Formats: sequence, structure tokens, C-alpha cells
Amino acid sequence: MKFRPRRSVLYMPGSNARALEKARSLPADGFIFDLEDAVAPDMKSEARDLVASAVRGGGFGKRELVIRVNGLETEWADDDIKAAVEAAPNAILVPKVETAETVREVSARMSELGAAPNIRLWAMMEAPLSILNAGEIAAAGAGKDSRLACFVMGTNDLAKETGAAITADRLPMLSWLTTCVAAARAYRLKILDGVYNNFRDMEGFVAECEHGRSLGMDGKTLIHPTQIEECNGIFAPSPGEVAFARKIITAFAQPENKDKGAITIDGRMVERLHAQIARHTVTIADAITELHA
Ligand code: COA
Ligand code: MG
Repeated sequence: MKFRPRRSVLYMPGSNARALEKARSLPADGFIFDLEDAVAPDMKSEARDLVASAVRGGGFGKRELVIRVNGLETEWADDDIKAAVEAAPNAILVPKVETAETVREVSARMSELGAAPNIRLWAMMEAPLSILNAGEIAAAGAGKDSRLACFVMGTNDLAKETGAAITADRLPMLSWLTTCVAAARAYRLKILDGVYNNFRDMEGFVAECEHGRSLGMDGKTLIHPTQIEECNGIFAPSPGEVAFARKIITAFAQPENKDKGAITIDGRMVERLHAQIARHTVTIADAITELHA
């Protein structure tokens, strides 16, 4: 796919067979099959088998499949990475990434295990060092052989590790969120916002999605099916945005505008950089249509 929508990416406990099955019918853009914090220690090996067979079993259309493994320091990491590579999802999500070295180490391990180059690596940004080293971690994704493709904000762990509160305005975490957006953009990575725990509070959830989009997030990680639809709407270009983008593209394609840098559309100044943004907007809208066709 030329562009992969990641408006809504839903976590599922790897040990929850019902959720894994249900996911096939849910309209999220992607799924994270969790082997880490959503799975109790006694269930790790059962979850690993369930997730591997769900990913291999398919039935998810073109939606993105990601397996979150346990941290490298745990007794489960080796088996998780091996099973994930064999199941061949779109990406492996590594928790608690604190240094660029972790990115390089997991990438190398995946290659040793024979992972195809298109199996990407995603990094959880959820520790104080993740924030302090965000630029270096993102830079580990710059090489053409690098697997690193996406940052995922782990706001619950950030709260736990720092003592910062989870508030509606997110002021205690704002600089960490924006630091990670800047680091991701500097090295052309994608970035997904953290989860909203109170899944019955739709108003609060919508406000947080809008906040995340305003910060430049590509989408949001989710914990419950009820969150998918609103999230998809907020992180997609609106019909009005798409219509205006098409207008800009058409206008700059007119012969009389061929040599112009700036033109007027609907009383607004539009420059060539807006035409670039417009093309991107249309690409996203088309990709969303294609993903869920
Ligand atoms: N993915 C897929 N399906 C899910 C789901 C998820 N994350 N969460 C709930 N569902 C399904 C349930 O299986 C149920 O399906 P059914 O009615 O067809 O059997 C339906 O959605 C309604 O679920 P509900 O009863 O409202 O929720 P619950 O009490 O079963 O579960 C949670 C609540 C929070 C435990 C559950 O949503 C969950 O495990 N979320 C993900 C947690 C996670 O992975 N955390 C790690 C990262 S933060
Ligand atoms: Mg975490």
C-alpha cells in the first residue's frame, strides 16, 4: 500500500481468544496482539500460541497486524520474538524502549531469525529514558535497512514511572508527547497516541482523540471496540478537507496557473506547499477507502 492508515489501532490481550476472533469483524485500521502487560504470567505461553495462530490464520483483510512481545529483560522475550517472526505480522512492537541500542538489538535478532525485511519494528515510548532519548531512538530508524517504523506512546507506564497524573488536559505529559512527535517526524516515523482507559466515557475519549490529532499524531491506540468508530472519524480527513484538497490540486493543474506560486481559491491564499499537503490528504482518504473496501 502506498499509504497505510493508522487512525485506530486496537490492543487485544493475546490470551483472550474471544477478542482475537472478534477483531476480524472490527473496523480498526490495525490490531496489536498483546503478549506483554495484558497477559498474566501464567498465561504467557498459551497467549503466544493463540496469537501466532490468529495471525497465521488471517481473515483481517488488509488491516495491519502487530504483535507486542515481552521486554528483552524478561524470560519470555526470546520465545515471543521467535514465535512472532514465524507468524510474520506486519510489525513487532517492543515495550519499554529506552535506548537506540534496544532497537538495533531487536532488529538484528529478527534478521537472525530470518524475518523478511518488511516485518517492521514499533517502539513503545513509555519510560522516562524513552523521552530523554527520543531523538536517538528515532534516528535508529533512519537507515534504509532499519525496521523501525512507528512510535507508540505508553501513557499509562509514563504515569506509573514518573508520578505524572493522567488528566483531561494532558498538561503533565504534553511536552513528552510533543517531544516524541518531533523525534518521529525528524526521522519519518509514524506515531500513535496512548490509550484512553475509561472506555465508557465517550466525551472524554473524543476530546483526547482531537487533542492527539492536533499534536500531529497519526492515530490512537485503543482498548475497546466502542472506541473505534469515533477515532476513525477524528483521525481521517473530513469530507470538507478532502473536497478542498481536490479543488487545490485541480486549480494548480490549470494551464493558467502553471507558473504561479500562489493563487486564490474561495478567497484564501493557496501556495504550492498547500498543493503538496492536498495531495497527501487525498492519498490518505483514498487509502482509507481501499483499506476497508
Ligand atoms: N479487542 C477485541 N474485542 C474486544 C476487546 C478488545 N480489546 N475488548 C472487548 N472486546 C469484545 C468482548 O470480547 C465482547 O465481545 P462479545 O460481546 O462479542 O463477546 C465485547 O467486545 C464487549 O466487551 P465488554 O464486555 O464491554 O468488555 P470486557 O469487560 O469483556 O473487557 C477490557 C474490558 C478492558 C478487559 C477489554 O476491553 C480489554 O481487554 N481491552 C484491551 C486491554 C489491553 O490489551 N491492554 C493492553 C494495552 S493498554
Ligand atoms: Mg506499557
